[in-house]
Amino acid sequence: MNAFDLIPKLVRSSLEADKKNIEATALMIARKIKKDYPAAAEEITKALAYSRLDSPVTRSIDLQPLPVDKETRYSLVKIEEPIEMPDPILEDFIRQQLEDFIKERQILEDFLREDIVPPNSILLDGPPGVGKTYIAYWLAYRLNTPIITLDLASSISSYLGRTGQNIRNIFDYARSQRTILFLDELDAIAKRRDDAGDLGELKRLVNVLLKELEDCPSSCVIIGATNHPELLDKAIWRRFDRTLTISMPDERERRSLLIRHLGKFGDELRKDTLDYLVKHTKNINAADICKLSEHMKRRAFLSPNEPLQIIALSELYKIKPLATKEDKTNICRLLKKEFSGLSVRDISMITQIPSTTVSRYLSVNRKGDEEHVE
Ligand SMILES: Nc1ncnc2c1ncn2[C@@H]1O[C@H](COP(=O)(O)OP(=O)(O)O)[C@@H](O)[C@H]1O
Ligand SMILES: [Mg+2]
Repeated sequence: MNAFDLIPKLVRSSLEADKKNIEATALMIARKIKKDYPAAAEEITKALAYSRLDSPVTRSIDLQPLPVDKETRYSLVKIEEPIEMPDPILEDFIRQQLEDFIKERQILEDFLREDIVPPNSILLDGPPGVGKTYIAYWLAYRLNTPIITLDLASSISSYLGRTGQNIRNIFDYARSQRTILFLDELDAIAKRRDDAGDLGELKRLVNVLLKELEDCPSSCVIIGATNHPELLDKAIWRRFDRTLTISMPDERERRSLLIRHLGKFGDELRKDTLDYLVKHTKNINAADICKLSEHMKRRAFLSPNEPLQIIALSELYKIKPLATKEDKTNICRLLKKEFSGLSVRDISMITQIPSTTVSRYLSVNRKGDEEHVE
């Protein structure tokens, strides 16, 4: 019996989730192919070893055990295999640079042959919720590489004293694999510098990080992300090949986000309502626009008799509360102006302002008050 004859058995046991048989068959295959395909055989043996250790994340990939904190034995990082994700919605300039980076990584060997240094790091900065973490995972998908995430905010606070050694171990680990190392919330290292007690330790950490970034070979991709670039040590900043500043979504991006996330609900929504949503989500980040879309879809599903326009507009004003009387007056008038079909009751539903008050705001307008509304 050769290795190929064992494949149907392996498939059958996998489909039946018969772990014992999967292991036995895989081991037989590994032994049979060892001579001709040593690398594949070794990968199988390793996968089996991890499966026995009960570490599901490393189950199917050829990876060494994850580094752990010496004392707590907690895993310092999480590792995930790439999964397919839709493209992030970004301005063209940023999108192009990410595509360039992907292309350059794909011809890594050609670069090395020509003595050209390939890029291996990107720093993403920008306000929360604009897609920095999403981009890191999407890059893992595009480069078809597992991604190791080190969340500095949580690791520093829990093991400050040992963070230096931990960071070294993590970089050692990342270097030994073909992976993306994702340093999320990179500013956590800088943020606590004001904290006098921790000052020395954090300075040391910055130095450790700098050295590790410096020593990273081109086989290893490093993505950093920060919401507070101004807190980041300039020296760290300089270690990255490119810095991409991700901005709040502009009108075109907001429209794409809404259309993508609203799905069928978006198709059924009146065009003027969609336009209104696009215009009035100006200071809302991409993550919240996605959430808003989900709120709308859920409500539409739960109350099928409620007009979609009312659902859309009232969910908008739930996440964009009207704080002052002026805001309230302006929005009531604007809604009436933009959507002549809306009744006082509709506007009251949308804005959560009592009908009598809405009537009052609108009637002031009708009396020839020509002030600009928005
Ligand atoms: N530019 C974007 N394109 C598509 N989806 C986005 C974008 N930005 C954010 N999202 C959505 O919002 C979620 C949260 O964003 P996240 O990447 O965590 O933001 P950040 O890391 O910048 O705080 C993402 O998982 C994704 O669903
Ligand atoms: Mg993030």
